[in-house]
Amino acid sequence: MARDPRLPDLRNFERIVFFTGAGMSAESGVPTYRGKGGIWKEYEPQRYACQAAFDRDPEAVWEFHNYRRGLVGACEPNAGHRLIAQAEATLPHVTVVTQNIDGLHQLAGSERVYELHGSLWWVRCGSERRFSRAVPFDAQRPDGKWWRPDIVWFGDSLKSEVVTKAIDAITRCDLLVSIGTSAVVYPAAQMPLLAQQNGATLVEINPDETPVSKAYDICIRGTAGEVLTALCAGLDEAPAVS
Ligand code: APR
Repeated sequence: MARDPRLPDLRNFERIVFFTGAGMSAESGVPTYRGKGGIWKEYEPQRYACQAAFDRDPEAVWEFHNYRRGLVGACEPNAGHRLIAQAEATLPHVTVVTQNIDGLHQLAGSERVYELHGSLWWVRCGSERRFSRAVPFDAQRPDGKWWRPDIVWFGDSLKSEVVTKAIDAITRCDLLVSIGTSAVVYPAAQMPLLAQQNGATLVEINPDETPVSKAYDICIRGTAGEVLTALCAGLDEAPAVS
């Protein structure tokens, strides 16, 4: 893909935030939530991905989440994930704020990652938390309680410590690149716009227009892999981070 002249040179920015949604992992084979092949077309969130469903039928909720673990666990980070990880290793300050729960940014090598909606690979019970990539995960504990997926389900509040770090990164950045989100789920949907307060440049990468596209300085209608390849081209020529 010839480099779109509207794409900024990442080396001109001090603090960059990549704000990602399910479209970031689409090229890894992870289904998105909405649109063609979207997960919510097959599974109702009210039955499989909310606290009431978990209280009512933890077994059914875990059947769905173990299905997701199997599906996502077989997917690898794609070129886009790897390019963002390379940007973090090369440039002064890069942060990933993701709505995704698949852990693919971390598998690709990104370290500063804030997971607004939690993670498929973390579970919790009361104050206990555990990381496990077991597929299936045996969620019923010896004490008869159930491990709960540590995911922000519909109706849940986001974790305040994660929100604080994400908003701090967004309000201090001078470039925010949003990739693969339909921008329909709040409060995440409006978070990227906070970057405007600091005069940041906002770039949206998505094959489709979204409800917040008009707030972006640059909208590139393309896929994560192809546009990030163009955006991150030449990064390895950047001066090493001192
Ligand atoms: N590259 C970039 N964007 C893509 C690609 C791709 N290859 N394929 C699809 N997209 C775009 C779609 O156009 C759409 O705008 O990715 C977006 C995916 O939207 P959703 O499926 O709604 O995912 P997301 O925005 O992350 O959903 C937000 O909703 O269900 C909740 O908690 C869940 O985190 C999720 C939140």
